[in-house]
Amino acid sequence: MHERQKLESSPPTYTYLKDEVFQICRYCHTGRRPYLFNYQDIQAVVVPGKPEESKLFEMVSSGRMPKGGRLSNKKIWAIYYWIKNGAKND
Ligand code: HEC
Repeated sequence: MHERQKLESSPPTYTYLKDEVFQICRYCHTGRRPYLFNYQDIQAVVVPGKPEESKLFEMVSSGRMPKGGRLSNKKIWAIYYWIKNGAKND
């Protein structure tokens, strides 16, 4: 099964994103908004259920974030399906 289908059938949690995906963002986003490690603050860049309308997904899928690098496709899809699944605080 492809990574993307796995993520679709079993959406990642916010805890997983914090621990495995956002680590690389920490260097900048603990001192500037959005504070990706603060669930309340991250609401400003997500539209729950609608990844295509979410700034967070736009920034990583376009390659603009992380600044100076790029997430793996697996991590980009993890963000997509977390948002699609309601961007829960799980
Ligand atoms: C080297 C510093 C740096 C790193 C690392 C970084 N960012 Fe950023 N981020 C910025 C800066 C600076 C901005 C402001 C916009 C710009 O300059 O492009 C920004 C803006 C954003 C925005 C848009 C905020 C808004 O309201 O418009 C999002 C979303 C974002 N970053 C997410 C991330 C994610 C997710 C990661 C990790 C995968 C990440 N960033 C890694 C520096 C960084």
